[in-house]
Amino acid sequence: MNILLLGSGGREHALAWKIQKSSLLNNLYIAPGNAGTASLGTNVEINVTDFTAMKQFSLNHDIDMIVVGPEVPLVEGIYDYFHKDEDLCHIAVIGPSKKGAQLEGSKDFAKRFMTSYDIPTARFKTVTLENLTDGNVFLDSLQAPYVLKADGLAAGKGVLILNNLDEAKQSLLEMLNGKFGMASRSVVIEEFLSGIECSVFVLTDGKSYKILPVAKDYKRIGEGDTGLNTGGMGAVSPVSFADDLFMEKVRIRIVEPTIEGLQKEKIEYKGFIFVGLINVGDEPKVIEYNVRMGDPETEVVLPLIKSDLLELLIAVATETLDEKILEIDDRCAVTVMMVSGGYPGAYEKGKPIEGLNDIEDRLVFHAGTKSVGEKIVTSGGRVLSVTSYGKTMDEALGISYKNITKIDFENSYFRKDIGFDLNKM
Ligand code: AMP
Ligand code: GLY
Repeated sequence: MNILLLGSGGREHALAWKIQKSSLLNNLYIAPGNAGTASLGTNVEINVTDFTAMKQFSLNHDIDMIVVGPEVPLVEGIYDYFHKDEDLCHIAVIGPSKKGAQLEGSKDFAKRFMTSYDIPTARFKTVTLENLTDGNVFLDSLQAPYVLKADGLAAGKGVLILNNLDEAKQSLLEMLNGKFGMASRSVVIEEFLSGIECSVFVLTDGKSYKILPVAKDYKRIGEGDTGLNTGGMGAVSPVSFADDLFMEKVRIRIVEPTIEGLQKEKIEYKGFIFVGLINVGDEPKVIEYNVRMGDPETEVVLPLIKSDLLELLIAVATETLDEKILEIDDRCAVTVMMVSGGYPGAYEKGKPIEGLNDIEDRLVFHAGTKSVGEKIVTSGGRVLSVTSYGKTMDEALGISYKNITKIDFENSYFRKDIGFDLNKM
């Protein structure tokens, strides 16, 4: 198989690492990739939304499958673009159709889908400038805090949580007037749910599914989950509270109806579903769907999958996933993200990274790096994700933290408390 993998973060380095282990692989190309993916395949200078360039490349290099890392190409319809072109329709695209990608591309679509199929989630109302009054009445009916979500994609920044009713009404108006551009011309107002979150990943061929190891990510920049939201500062898997009983509820109340709903709506979906869950008094409720793997969750989920990922992806493409067995490692995996000082605000790039060859018993996934001559330098806010295994979460964390001290770049920062909340439970 010749594979084209789209994306350039730690998630894609982890996907490349796992795909590269498969005996079914011939050539792996990553567009655009990073310094880490370059050691596993060939990086290609193609933007993830440049479908025309991708078409040419795929035909020239005999690509058999496109594995899509980030959501934007999916929401823009890469699946349909390949599927509907007679020169390209033999190429499998791992990801949903454009309609399926609306589960992430439109919060309103996702909420309506959940309502239709009785999938537990927060009460909501969708508002535009036309029915602003209804929105304010709905806000009056809720208790603080108030959750406002831009309907469309807003690079992970489109959710506001306000403690005060007047502020919530003011923010609602600002959002509808374009605070997040077109994405917030329509806003989903939600009841606030209180609990601890986790990320459940499902691989589906549209008919059957496999639930991958459960993970928890740590989104805030500061220790104790304080400060600004980031792309993710670390992750752990498995998650102590997501025990067999909880996961059975997730399977029956959320995963099964989601797959059935996709079938009933005739939505083509051959890829990953990421269900963002919150545990409210031992009852799982859906916070959001994403139509891709999470980052940095992928950097712990894939290392725990013992099965050949490429074999599973081929089964997804050929709708034979039910014939495959998913083998899971029984260890814990954790990842700790090293970021550039200043992130998620302004930060400097181009800092040489030292010590990458000195570390043991770990996997280092590159998130924002590039090669300059012989050196690897920083090229993003999130720079490296250091993953380790252990018999326990704490043992794995000890290894990641020991190794992180051996890696150095100017102004690096990482959270020293990944997993802190799970130990208290
Ligand atoms: P989303 O982009 O929908 O995942 O929202 C971003 C973050 O906002 C989530 O990871 C939660 O931490 C928080 N959040 C979203 N919706 C709710 C809700 N209804 N109740 C409590 N927290 C929420
Ligand atoms: N870690 C959350 C995400 O990938 O959206």
